[in-house]
Amino acid sequence: MVYTYAQYLEAAESLKARIGSFTPEVLVILGTGLGSLGEQVEDAVTVPYADVPHMKTSTAPDHMGRFLFGRLAGKNVAVMQGRLHGYEGYDFADVSFPVRVAYLLGIRTMIVTNAAGAVNISYSAGDIMLIADHIKLFGTSPLQGPNLPEFGPRFPDVSHTYTPALQRLAQSVAEAQGITLRWGVYMYFPGPQYETPAEVRMARTLGADAVGMSTVPEVLTAAHCGMDVLGFTLCTNLAAGVLDQPLSEEEVIAAGRAAGDRFTALVRGCLQAM
Ligand code: HPA
Repeated sequence: MVYTYAQYLEAAESLKARIGSFTPEVLVILGTGLGSLGEQVEDAVTVPYADVPHMKTSTAPDHMGRFLFGRLAGKNVAVMQGRLHGYEGYDFADVSFPVRVAYLLGIRTMIVTNAAGAVNISYSAGDIMLIADHIKLFGTSPLQGPNLPEFGPRFPDVSHTYTPALQRLAQSVAEAQGITLRWGVYMYFPGPQYETPAEVRMARTLGADAVGMSTVPEVLTAAHCGMDVLGFTLCTNLAAGVLDQPLSEEEVIAAGRAAGDRFTALVRGCLQAM
């Protein structure tokens, strides 16, 4: 679906009517198994995605499909408790619709999180990876179609999509918390099937450290409108074929929950330090 600028504005106006004078500064997108951070938002105004004009809603397991507007670690935030994915049948413009709406609310910084499979064989399940960069060979771009210059240029530069200063900030927060942060490359796969072992070998050859089914559409959309981006991947499992065992959604969600406290502390620490 191609959205008009007026449709993004309509969505933003409807959210403004719900949050009043509250001005969110940071958009935090919570991935599979990581939604519990949403429970920590103080004085939260909750808005289901289904209530936002033109916005699609989450159908993925463990994705609640709602915004929480409130305070977290001393910052005014808009938290997305669950996201939209291409494998739900949405195109990338649908998936990244909320990022542009956040921009229209005045948000200029995004923290994006996801669960993914580790391709780098020196990683372990439970490792947290700072997304240093990404690879997207599959699918189109959320920026396809008529360019909306209100958001950004036709041909945006993506050399520093993940903001270097925020990467350094995350590294120092992680060190202070005793968390080893892997710096790696996230590669997008469309899903919903997990990758084959041959695809995982290909991803490793191409320079990926983790593979997952999200994040890149939202990040490209944020980059287009000049937002600062910080991305974290929780490696919930070793990707297919690294170990001789099948992957399961239950394992992914359980690993997300098991890492929840560490992950939550890291995101909170970064918010506080921003
Ligand atoms: N592949 C893709 N997406 C994922 C994985 C994986 O191994 N684990 C969690 N999300």
